[in-house]
Amino acid sequence: MAAQHDAPLETLFLPFASGVLSWPAGPVLFLRARDGAPLREHAQPGQLVCEQSFRPFADALEASGWTVRDEQQLAADPTRYALVLVLPPRQREEAKALFARALALAAPGGIVVACQHNNEGARSGEGDLQQLAGLGGKLTKNHCRSYWTAPLNGQHDAALAQRWATLDAPRPILGGRFQSRPGIFAWDRIDPASALLVEQLPADLAGRGADLGAGFGYLSVEVLSRCPGVTALDLFEAEGRALALARENLAALGKPALLGFHWQDVTAGIEGQYDFIVTNPPFHTPSRADRPDIGQRFIAVAAQALRPGGRMWLVANRHLPYEQILNASFGQVRVAAERDGFKLIEATRMKDTGRAREPARVKDSPRSRNWDRA
Ligand SMILES: C[S@@+](CC[C@H](N)C(=O)[O-])C[C@H]1O[C@@H](n2cnc3c(N)ncnc32)[C@H](O)[C@@H]1O
Repeated sequence: MAAQHDAPLETLFLPFASGVLSWPAGPVLFLRARDGAPLREHAQPGQLVCEQSFRPFADALEASGWTVRDEQQLAADPTRYALVLVLPPRQREEAKALFARALALAAPGGIVVACQHNNEGARSGEGDLQQLAGLGGKLTKNHCRSYWTAPLNGQHDAALAQRWATLDAPRPILGGRFQSRPGIFAWDRIDPASALLVEQLPADLAGRGADLGAGFGYLSVEVLSRCPGVTALDLFEAEGRALALARENLAALGKPALLGFHWQDVTAGIEGQYDFIVTNPPFHTPSRADRPDIGQRFIAVAAQALRPGGRMWLVANRHLPYEQILNASFGQVRVAAERDGFKLIEATRMKDTGRAREPARVKDSPRSRNWDRA
């Protein structure tokens, strides 16, 4: 994902590339960091610390040699940064909380520089940072807006920063059924496609299962509640903030099944042999670019990770082109239900014919992560 042209990333660095701002000699922090050429053009080795909770982006940063830390690690580290770069998310409460954290992590005299695409909240983002700390300047290019504070010397609105810092905090939703937080997928509701899958979920799913793209754990909670024969369930999710909530939501259920939580990019392959898989796969990147190939890859990975005879229950928007990969990867495919523009597919892996199976590609994951902890 990082290899494609990334307009907000390029425009974030524009004030430095054009000489409007000078790149500091001190430590630099990059919140919601993404990898790309501008990082190499500006940052010295060892100068930059990145935070990124979406695994594919974090993997790309680490593959390029950048240091990636999570929120807890940054909170425990007393370093304050001469420059804090931010690619704010589209969700406004989450973005405001991130601005408050950026200010708290900036050194005296440091600055915060942010950039958003015009279609992803640039105008409100600029207004929010201005309200919090005042603006030092702005530039526009590539349909994006880069904006920054003046050197910070305690002149920001501290009471507002304190209020904004908790705007994206985890909280109970739907009458206390789940813990969730702004910014993750369908954060304060049940997604209608997932609801369709749950309505049709057969109670005889049993043995070891997996939930690919588990979000805050809605499908997994329902599987464990409705299918008493399930003995183990592995949740795979690329967004660490969502996976942490899934861990809480499943623990609260108190079911005896063996649970695994994997902060992982499913498109890179998964390890395991499953009796069943449930999934409502993503079909776009976090910046909402259409990417049906991600869902297609989820299907291929699911097929490889199922035992012969194992079943996948998948729900998707009806228009998504999944049929070819479904038919190529599974022995039997049927549409189990259709409603409101969604299709629910049951796909069964062929019984073994004796032919060698292509092994699932496994991502090496030697580092210990907060989100991976059992
Ligand atoms: C359509 S949502 C479904 C969430 C949840 N299962 C539900 O039903 O409410 C897809 C989920 O996949 C996650 N995701 C996106 N790309 C991913 C990837 N490459 N690997 C693993 N998970 C990914 C997203 O963060 C999101 O939580």
